[in-house]
Amino acid sequence: MLIQMAMIIQVKPFFPNLRNEKSQNHLNFPNKHSSNLICSSLTSSDSVLSHRLAHHFNPKIPIEKAVTPPSSWYTDHSFFHLELDRVFYRGWQAVGSTEQIKDPGDFFTGRLGDVEFVVCRDDTGNVQAFYNVCRHHASILASGSGQKSCFVCPYHGWTYGLNGTLLKANRISGMRDFNVNDFGLIPIKVATWGPFVLLNFKKENLTQKEVDSHNVATEWLGSSSEILSTNGVDSSLSYVCRREYTIECNWKVFCDNYLDGGYHVPYAHKDLASGLNLDSYSTTLFERVSIQSCEGMSGKSEENNDRLGRKAIYAFIYPNFMINRYGPWMDTNLVLPLGANKCRVVFDYYLEPSLQGDRDFIAKSLQDSEKVQIEDIVLCEGVQKGLQSPAYSVGRYAPKVEQAMHHFHCLLHENLTT
Ligand code: FES
Ligand SMILES: [Fe+2]
Repeated sequence: MLIQMAMIIQVKPFFPNLRNEKSQNHLNFPNKHSSNLICSSLTSSDSVLSHRLAHHFNPKIPIEKAVTPPSSWYTDHSFFHLELDRVFYRGWQAVGSTEQIKDPGDFFTGRLGDVEFVVCRDDTGNVQAFYNVCRHHASILASGSGQKSCFVCPYHGWTYGLNGTLLKANRISGMRDFNVNDFGLIPIKVATWGPFVLLNFKKENLTQKEVDSHNVATEWLGSSSEILSTNGVDSSLSYVCRREYTIECNWKVFCDNYLDGGYHVPYAHKDLASGLNLDSYSTTLFERVSIQSCEGMSGKSEENNDRLGRKAIYAFIYPNFMINRYGPWMDTNLVLPLGANKCRVVFDYYLEPSLQGDRDFIAKSLQDSEKVQIEDIVLCEGVQKGLQSPAYSVGRYAPKVEQAMHHFHCLLHENLTT
């Protein structure tokens, strides 16, 4: 107990001066031979302090004795930029659904941290991804989503093919030392797994052709990929719709809430709790994935049976993607970091094709799901306020139920310190 108290006292003094917005990462597009396109503009003092904060969690302490990461991990702006560099600009990141790029010419845009990107299916059916920045004067090139035969910059009209080639640059006569082949869109490594589209901002040594789908599955899901496939996480479901929520909390608060092994369910989601057998809740840890599962009350209660089915699995794919498979439904939650104190969660809903025409069932299910999200948003925003209080520095884990949360924090620590 004394040791824990000592850690608490030690942790706080580093934080108060770090709450400033001055650090902004930026994209640097030097020449095509550059090996690392993303550079952080953290000042060296911010960088030193945020690196020190990363060490204020000790993954070697067993969960029974461990304290959680300090509140500064959830509130500090320079730490947030360290996370973008170390957590999000490395490794495979889920960014969308293959439903958004079903046909040649389909595209969608997005932003992860400070990186604007566009994903499309080109004329030959290949999935392509690029930094969504015009090579002329850096205008954002494409917006939203839809269908296009080429990308025309809204600023001066430079035009790019869906394979990224610069096709047309207006009024450049007289420009010297300009090779059109050097001014195509900057590609991003892209892959798909099941119905999910993944990007990797740090695969500088691989060409797109060298991205191997087997390796992607291994890197992204590790040994959990087979378990997910055999539990119905696949492309056979029909896409239903998307819902988005902007939440006034750090992205990890939402993840932590998801990873508490159902701890909060009986208190915060009474309706949901009535459809689940919470005694059956279990957690399995994989390399970068944790899977929580819970039996439904199918056969015991008439409530919620259709939506929740006999068994629910809740898979968390580090760092910010959740796949929920229950009854005939699958929904995914993508938690996008928007700043130290803000995130957006994108829900995509998929359903067994035989129920696609059952509008009443779909509407009722989405309504029930929305109720749970609203309940979670209230919790998460409350936690963020608490994390900002000078009264709180670190917390504790309930060892029997919060293993997935502890696993998440250990993975974060590893990423942030290597
Ligand atoms: S910035 Fe795109 S054409 Fe000028
Ligand atoms: Fe919840």
